[in-house]
Amino acid sequence: MFVQLLFVVTLGLLWIYLHFKQRYRFWAHHKVPFLEPNFPVGNAADTLKPTIHFANIMDKLYRKLKPYGDYAGIYFFRDPVLLVLSPEFARTILVKDFNYFVDRGVYSNEEVDPLSANLFFMEGNRWRKLRSKLAPTFTSGKLKAMFHTIVDVGTRLDQYLAKRCVQAQRLDVKELLARFLTDVIGSCAFGIECNSLDNPDSQFRVMGKRMINLPKLKALKVFFAMMFRKQARALGIRFNDEDVSDFFLTVVRDTIRYREENGVRRDDFMQLLIDMTKKDGTGDGETLTFEEIAAQAFIFFFAGFETSSTTLTCALHLLSKHPHVQREARRCVQDVLTKHRNELTYDAVVEMEYLGWIVNETLRMHPPVATLHRITTQPYQLPNGSVIPEGVGVVIPNLAFHNDPDLFSDPLDFKPERFSVKDDFKNNFSYLPFGEGPRICIGMRFGLLQTRLGLAMLLRNYSFTIDPSEAERPLPIDPINLLYGPAGEVWLNVERIA
Ligand code: HEM
Repeated sequence: MFVQLLFVVTLGLLWIYLHFKQRYRFWAHHKVPFLEPNFPVGNAADTLKPTIHFANIMDKLYRKLKPYGDYAGIYFFRDPVLLVLSPEFARTILVKDFNYFVDRGVYSNEEVDPLSANLFFMEGNRWRKLRSKLAPTFTSGKLKAMFHTIVDVGTRLDQYLAKRCVQAQRLDVKELLARFLTDVIGSCAFGIECNSLDNPDSQFRVMGKRMINLPKLKALKVFFAMMFRKQARALGIRFNDEDVSDFFLTVVRDTIRYREENGVRRDDFMQLLIDMTKKDGTGDGETLTFEEIAAQAFIFFFAGFETSSTTLTCALHLLSKHPHVQREARRCVQDVLTKHRNELTYDAVVEMEYLGWIVNETLRMHPPVATLHRITTQPYQLPNGSVIPEGVGVVIPNLAFHNDPDLFSDPLDFKPERFSVKDDFKNNFSYLPFGEGPRICIGMRFGLLQTRLGLAMLLRNYSFTIDPSEAERPLPIDPINLLYGPAGEVWLNVERIA
């Protein structure tokens, strides 16, 4: 019996080994330069280490493979993946040949996880339809209408800090800003006052934390599902825990009911989504169903609060390490406000150009979404003439571009003025913090607005410094967070100056 079992196991392992070996011929067959893979991890051995972020692994591979030209082949376990090595080829994938690369190819499972039917995960024609329906949600007119909501939350942040920071006070700005942006996005996406600034245990903050800080077992599950999509779907793996899903579905249901029963309308994303639905919540292809509304509100919350709070945290950290830039930024805020009778209006914030450069430079050094993903959605002819089949993954390592001295001089230096030349880096596709092309971040303008406004409000009344011992070391990155952001707490000294 034991011998038979041993024989079957050996045969199984041999089959797996030969199957992987056969897959590892893919890039040689397509005459694409590639890194020699190792069984069974391919070139992804580092992904098994809990000490290095996926974007840094891609950065390492990019440096190794860059001499080979526009692209090279790597393997994630048994799967071939095309690594983009030049901004010009990134333009080809993201824009010129977009029709071959419509989807991200990231795992989702609507059947067991209704909130995953959102714009980020959606594929093909369903994505196209939904994107065109949602595009009007983010016009400058709509953002202007929402502006006062962000200012209201900002005023609460100011009052909160005014009480705490009469004298220099050491604060974990990462936690503070996460609470601030939870309240902003809670107000704008759900029309709900989450109050997490005053109550760190508010339900929205707790849910936000659950979505971001993945326990190790969950991180492993996500990783498995990303690598083995078909198998994960068959096993019914879901990203969002049932209680998190129930929480968001209930909030959306209650909000819609409350507004309908009380004839309430607000200037927020939720209202724009409600206006796209039919009264009975069924949807007819053109309108949205209740589940679709909930899924979009959910992704606006998830994509909206942590990306911007990471950016704002990193910006304050950099400004604390570079006091002369902080002084210049404060002068910019004060000069513009003087012109606008001390009122923080939409137009005033747009006029604070120097703050825009600081945000751009922060996003260059710390892009919260630090790799972009696509998959071939039909067979695609590479520039070398070889045709790769449908279903091949593509990674655009935007963090690696941002760190490349051939694309950005002195990439480790914080130099906001490099963005003084309008759209220089954007035009050549070396700067991609929001992605590009038809699948570019739909919330980009909102994200930039809330980050710039947050910075203006904070710099107007507070100064930020860092302890010399901490200024010397770079911000440690959390290796198991889906986003690319600081690990642990980020302590700065905050003092009221106005
Ligand atoms: C600093 C803030 C933000 C950054 C750095 C950021 C970055 C990104 C990136 C890199 C992508 C992928 C683009 C691609 O694959 O080409 C993305 C997609 C997306 N983002 Fe953002 N984002 C931010 C804020 C927001 C906000 C505020 C919202 C919503 C309120 C949002 C909603 C989305 C959605 C729905 C998608 C999927 C778009 C699609 O597939 O059509 N993001 N974001």
